[in-house]
Amino acid sequence: MSSSTELVIILITLAFLSLILNINAQTDCSESSDEFFDLASARNITKCKKLTTLGAEFGWKYNVDNHTKRLQLDIILGASLQNAMGWLAWGVNPGQRPQMVGTRAIIGIRYLNGTSVIKTYNITQYTKIGCPLLPSEISDVNVSNTQVNYSATTRYMTIHASLILPQKDYTVSKLNHVWQVGHSANDVQPLMHATTLQNVDSTETLDLDTGTCVNIGHRRRHLRTVHGILNILGWGILLPIGVIIARYFRVHPFPFDQKKKNLWFYLHVSFQSVGYVLGTIGWGIGLWLGHASKYYTFRTHRILAIFIFTFATLQMLAFRLKPKDTDDYRKHWNMYHHFLGYALLATISVNIFQGIAILKPVYTWKWAYVAILGAFGVVTIAFEIYTWIKFRNDIKDKEKKNQNDIKDKEKKNQTTNQEGKPSASTTETKAP
Ligand code: HEM
Ligand code: HEM
Repeated sequence: MSSSTELVIILITLAFLSLILNINAQTDCSESSDEFFDLASARNITKCKKLTTLGAEFGWKYNVDNHTKRLQLDIILGASLQNAMGWLAWGVNPGQRPQMVGTRAIIGIRYLNGTSVIKTYNITQYTKIGCPLLPSEISDVNVSNTQVNYSATTRYMTIHASLILPQKDYTVSKLNHVWQVGHSANDVQPLMHATTLQNVDSTETLDLDTGTCVNIGHRRRHLRTVHGILNILGWGILLPIGVIIARYFRVHPFPFDQKKKNLWFYLHVSFQSVGYVLGTIGWGIGLWLGHASKYYTFRTHRILAIFIFTFATLQMLAFRLKPKDTDDYRKHWNMYHHFLGYALLATISVNIFQGIAILKPVYTWKWAYVAILGAFGVVTIAFEIYTWIKFRNDIKDKEKKNQNDIKDKEKKNQTTNQEGKPSASTTETKAP
């Protein structure tokens, strides 16, 4: 292999790794919230970090016993609950990757009556499909010193535990850990948590020594935003503008003058093509992101996205496959093209709302898109009203013109009758 090819391969590998790696080596507890700092200090925990999701904070202290080949780990996890009741969980996963299934978890539950419990749980694939998650002994991890704290004023909850882990499955430099916050519980059984990105991105592989970690990374987060913007711009803005041009600038109410009478068509095709290309790039990025996040899918968003891409492609085929104006079935083809177009616009808006709900549960994006939809709504209603007024005026003008034409014709007939044909009285007078 030539050295330039090697260099390219190394660069591509580095670029790819930078997409999935997020190096965050901050382990200073002074950066933590006051509440967390106090509790961590009380337990002599000196390494702390803010976790990437759910506003969680994590602190740890470890020691390796070379004789028994065991890792002694003290942890503390803190996060705010949304309601007065809820649960906070943290766990380690001895598998290849940090994920929910296979996690040995410690879960603290807070009840409405003001009491709390903390217990250990084994999370299996059965938990994921909905089987009750009940407390159980963890066979390979020794858990002791468990403690849960909750502040009713701030709703801030912390769980603390000391663990002894076998080093063959849990290494200091690559510890897979997972955290989660849930809102309800049935006695000691925590109930399903939400599945927003915050709840499913709550995993990482941590180096206990340096505090560096591998998680979903800034670049992938950035790519999600790019995906959202491209989809909103392509499918959500350019396609509807193209439709508005076709509906209101072809015949009624704003036809282009005779010289530029096909301009509406070129504009329509241009907007639809650019919208389709941007939307398709956004869609492709979405598929890549979906593929990269193996352990969860946003099923409704994905199904709607596949529907949108498939039928938008079918609409684009109209470019080459539409029947000629003179063909018998052109009228039916028009009906199908228009109906599918409107159905697509409706599905696109639904999916954009879905995407925003996944990416940005905060309201800015949602309201920005509502404003865009509102602007389209106002323009469409104004054009629609104008079209009807113009249509009715045109009909009235036409009727008036027809009546005038009829009157003119009658007048003309009368005059020709008077000039060409002699009247009965004249004939009579002239008769011998
Ligand atoms: C209370 C019972 C629980 C149920 C019924 C449950 C169910 C689920 C389901 C169905 C998903 C997949 C979501 C999707 O595909 O969109 C998921 C994902 C996830 N859950 Fe849970 N879960 C529970 C408890 C926990 C606990 C205690 C933790 C943390 C210790 C946790 C951490 C995660 C994480 C990190 C994900 C992201 C995907 C993955 O790693 O598998 N879950 N959960
Ligand atoms: C009509 C427009 C849209 C289409 C066609 C589309 C398409 C897709 C597709 C195909 C996926 C992969 C789903 C999977 O395999 O699980 C996806 C995921 C996603 N989309 Fe969209 N999307 C659209 C709009 C949006 C918008 C507007 C946003 C946000 C503002 C958004 C945010 C996301 C996020 C956060 C994911 C998950 C990424 C991940 O798994 O890491 N989408 N989208």
